[in-house]
Amino acid sequence: MGIKKAVSLYPLLPMISIVIFCVLLSTQHCAAATAKKNGESLIKKTCKQTEFPDVCRSTLESDPRSSNAVDVRGLSRIGMELVFIKGRETLKVAYKLVLNSTGYDIWSRRAGCMSSYNMSIHNVKEKGLPYFNARRYKYAYQILENARGEISYCGTLNVPELAERTTMMTQFLTALKAILHLLF
Ligand SMILES: *[C@@H]1O[C@H](CO)[C@@H](O)[C@H](O)[C@H]1NC(C)=O
Ligand SMILES: *[C@@H]1O[C@H](CO)[C@@H](O)[C@H](O)[C@H]1NC(C)=O
Repeated sequence: MGIKKAVSLYPLLPMISIVIFCVLLSTQHCAAATAKKNGESLIKKTCKQTEFPDVCRSTLESDPRSSNAVDVRGLSRIGMELVFIKGRETLKVAYKLVLNSTGYDIWSRRAGCMSSYNMSIHNVKEKGLPYFNARRYKYAYQILENARGEISYCGTLNVPELAERTTMMTQFLTALKAILHLLF
């Protein structure tokens, strides 16, 4: 009896497995889409609690990993990496400007910015991230505060080619500090 039933189901098996496959597939897509949506609303909700929600959002959203972040901790970590990634881009620009300087005054201001960026991003990467990973958020926060101070110093050196990036970076660092503060 049981064997008979199994046999009679046999021609249907390919179809059954396709149905199962499709259900699994669409569930996966559904889960991915849900995660993405959650990540987006997490960014929005978290950035709203900072002084610079727009810079906070646009910077975090520039990294595709952010939309998969499941909590504030995950988002903060991506934020800290972004300080390094974005800062390194500016460092390259500053380096080119230094090489292309005519006269000591311009050279020294550009070199000051280059050194501010270089010091800040290396501190964030080599000290801030390890503190963060060890959940020593107050220490990581202090590293971000130091970086913000260094980079806003570049803002006082009057290097117009870096002004926009420097404003963005100091605002993002301010926002990221506020986000990190939610963790302690
Ligand atoms: C180098 O500086 C000159 C003027 O001082 C400018 O015209 C040129 O675009 C600069 N080049 C780069 C790569 O910044
Ligand atoms: C940045 O600093 C490191 C040391 O911390 C140094 O080796 C490197 O040459 C610096 N890079 C620039 C572009 O100043």
